[in-house]
Amino acid sequence: MRAGILTGGGDCPGLNAVIRATARRLLDRGWEVIGVREGWRGLVEAKLEPLGMREISGILPRGGTIIGTSRTNPYKLDGGVDAVLRTVAESGLDALVAIGGEDTLGVAARLHAEERFPVVGVPKTIDNDLSATDYTFGFDTAVSVCTEAIDRLHTTAESHNRVMVVEVMGRHTGWIAVMSGIAGGADVILIPEHPLTVEEACDEISRRHAKGKDFSIVVVSEGYELTYASGERRQVAQEAATDAFGHVRLGGVGDALAREIEERTGYETRVTVLGHVQRGGSPTPRDRVLATRYGLKAADLVLDGSWGRMAALHGDRIVDVSLKEATAELKTVPPEWYDVAKAFFG
Ligand code: F6P
Repeated sequence: MRAGILTGGGDCPGLNAVIRATARRLLDRGWEVIGVREGWRGLVEAKLEPLGMREISGILPRGGTIIGTSRTNPYKLDGGVDAVLRTVAESGLDALVAIGGEDTLGVAARLHAEERFPVVGVPKTIDNDLSATDYTFGFDTAVSVCTEAIDRLHTTAESHNRVMVVEVMGRHTGWIAVMSGIAGGADVILIPEHPLTVEEACDEISRRHAKGKDFSIVVVSEGYELTYASGERRQVAQEAATDAFGHVRLGGVGDALAREIEERTGYETRVTVLGHVQRGGSPTPRDRVLATRYGLKAADLVLDGSWGRMAALHGDRIVDVSLKEATAELKTVPPEWYDVAKAFFG
């Protein structure tokens, strides 16, 4: 029996840990394992390579993905889905393990529903925005990177009496901003789900300065829309064009917000955009363990023929859920989490 493994969408720390765990269990059970290069593109263009014990050795702590990734969407390519089905048939794949976020797993769910495709999923993304699982792997590492950055910015903010705006990723959810903001003791956190107005953010900073604290840390999620008391809202993006999954390239709200804060409060303000640093490097121990447990679960789902299922974390247990359920809607930050953050504003 032969299984393919693919990693799709933005990379994140822990992908190699999943590849290692899934391949290791399947190889132990006598399966052959094939690495599909660069996400769905590898099935469209038949870019395959064997994954044996030698290839998976030593990859547990490595960031990125040894089989590459892309944001290719076969449903957006002429003949894309037919090409995927042809590659699977011609290469004799009996199963596919798709490791990805809402986009990659959305394709997997659709292929399963419409083509009876033998696929199982593993939830990956630094954004932590996938439903039906408590956490995705990669998120903990991103939060650690952001928290360390916030800690470092605190000392320089304090020395110069400045406001430091830190822009973090997360696309249309504020999980990274809220968690790293709480962990780093941010004074204001702005996220897409519960948008404070620019005026409210400036009031919080002024209130804090009136109490004798003459520096502030503001964490803003890239998907936060500049929101004004007048009701006006403005999304900041690097380009209006969308990718194959319909996403604009976010980024730049930190700069726009910093300008507003400086003009409205008069406090000297600087901005740091953490960008892809959040996705690079070695996974935290927590992500390594989670990715390993997900990888073993995915292999077990393959061995059981449980197609259309995804490994998920519920509390401390690894369970499986339907891919359809996991990709039906984004998991947003609930008000209770934002309340924890807000208790320390101003
Ligand atoms: O989904 C992960 C993510 O890092 C988002 O937080 C971010 O908006 C996007 O990917 C960036 O994508 P790219 O790597 O294509 O610039």
